Amino acid sequence: MTEKTFDSIPWVFLGINVPPHMAEEFQKKAMDFIASFNPAHAICADNLFTCGKTLGFLKNDRFREIVDRNAVEENEQTMIWRTFVLCWAAKTSLGLAGDFVEIGCNKGYFARCIAEFTDFANAGKEFYLYDVFDPPSQAEGTPGHGPDSFEVVKDRFADHPNVTVTKGVIPDVFEDTAPEEIAFMHINVNSIAAGIGALERLFDRMPPGGIVILNDYGHGALAIQKEVEDAFMAMRGHAILELPTGQGLVIKR
Ligand SMILES: C[S@@+](CC[C@H](N)C(=O)[O-])C[C@H]1O[C@@H](n2cnc3c(N)ncnc32)[C@H](O)[C@@H]1O
Repeated sequence: MTEKTFDSIPWVFLGINVPPHMAEEFQKKAMDFIASFNPAHAICADNLFTCGKTLGFLKNDRFREIVDRNAVEENEQTMIWRTFVLCWAAKTSLGLAGDFVEIGCNKGYFARCIAEFTDFANAGKEFYLYDVFDPPSQAEGTPGHGPDSFEVVKDRFADHPNVTVTKGVIPDVFEDTAPEEIAFMHINVNSIAAGIGALERLFDRMPPGGIVILNDYGHGALAIQKEVEDAFMAMRGHAILELPTGQGLVIKR
C-alpha cells in the first residue's frame, strides 16, 4: 500500500517572526530532514513539525476528500490535524444526548467538515453555529466578514436542515437561541470575554461524556486565555488537555 504523505498540506507557520529568507532556509532543511526520514510519518503545517508518528488521519481517504473539497484557503488547508481532532470529537459525541454548537463559525469551514464527516444530516441532532458576522470593530475576531457573510454561511449549509446559523454577539446571543442540552462544543472565537462567556452560559448544559474543544487554548500568543479557561475548569473539577495542535480538550464528567 502506498502511504499518503503531507505533500499537499501547505507549510503555514503563523505568528512566527522570522525574515522570509530564514523561513525558506528552515523549510528546506526541515523538508530534507523529513525526506531522509519517512515522509509518510511526518507533518509540517499549522505551527507543527513532527516526524516518526503514524498520523493515521492523513491516510483516512474519506477525511482527506472532505478536507480537500472544503478547505479553500491555505489557512484552512494547513489546519488538517485540528480539523481531524474536531471530526473525531464530534463523531464520538454523536451517541450522547444533546446537540452540537460552534462558538465562532466564521465562514463555516470546520463546521462543514464536521457535518460531512459525521453524516450530520442523518444524526437526529441539531448543530448551532454562532458568529457576529461583522467586521472586527464589532468584536475581536477574524477580518474578512462582509455584508453578505451571514447569508453565504447559511447557503453553505442549505443541504443540512438541522444546521442553524445564528448572527449575534456571543455570549448575549444565547439568550435568544441555544440548545438545552449540548453533546459537543467547539469554541473558536478569538476573544477571551466571548469564549469564557460561552463556557459560563453553556458548559453546565453538557451531559457526562460531552466534549469541548477550545481552539485557542494552547496558542502561545494567547496565554491569558489559557489561564482563564484553566481557572474556569478547575472551579468545576475539570482539567484541560493541551493537544499538539494547540487545541484544548475537555471531557465533561
Ligand atoms: C477564528 S474565527 C472562527 C473560525 C471558524 N470556526 C472556522 O471554521 O473557520 C473567529 C470568529 O469569531 C467571531 N467572533 C469574535 N468575537 C465574537 C463575538 N463576541 N460574538 C460573535 N462572534 C465573534 C469572529 O467574527 C470570527 O468569525
